[in-house]
Amino acid sequence: EKYLVVHGPNLNLLGMREPGIYGTMTLQQINEILLAEAAKHNVKLDILQSNNEGEIIDFLHGNRDVDGIIINPAAYSHYSIAIHDAIKAVAIPTVEVHLSNIHSREEFRAKSVTASVCIGQISGFGYYSYILGLYALIQHNRS
Ligand code: DQA
Repeated sequence: EKYLVVHGPNLNLLGMREPGIYGTMTLQQINEILLAEAAKHNVKLDILQSNNEGEIIDFLHGNRDVDGIIINPAAYSHYSIAIHDAIKAVAIPTVEVHLSNIHSREEFRAKSVTASVCIGQISGFGYYSYILGLYALIQHNRS
């Protein structure tokens, strides 16, 4: 099995970006933990971080042979109909993840326009949201 991992805008600054909200782990550390966990379960990961909506969409279009997608669309979650459409178009099981609990913050974060085309959403567990997203896809694909 192979899954894509997509980190949206500003997540390249993890570690120094609002650590009280997003934690102190860097994106590289999160990716290393995810890769190790995926390897334990015989899953390969192809990881992208992008601050660019079109690049995220092109990455989804260009990797249509994968078995799952873990995506943190970051701020795009709240308004990108284009990413919503791309997830729907590729028709690959997708889990949306957020480090913070988007339902306990500003009102504009509570609404995700991308979650409705995902199997489900995991929000609020810091870096562990990504691990839970991985487990959710494995469970979805192997049961
Ligand atoms: C985020 C939550 C979003 O509201 C925010 O724009 C982000 C990160 C999270 O992982 O908690 O950039 O997706």
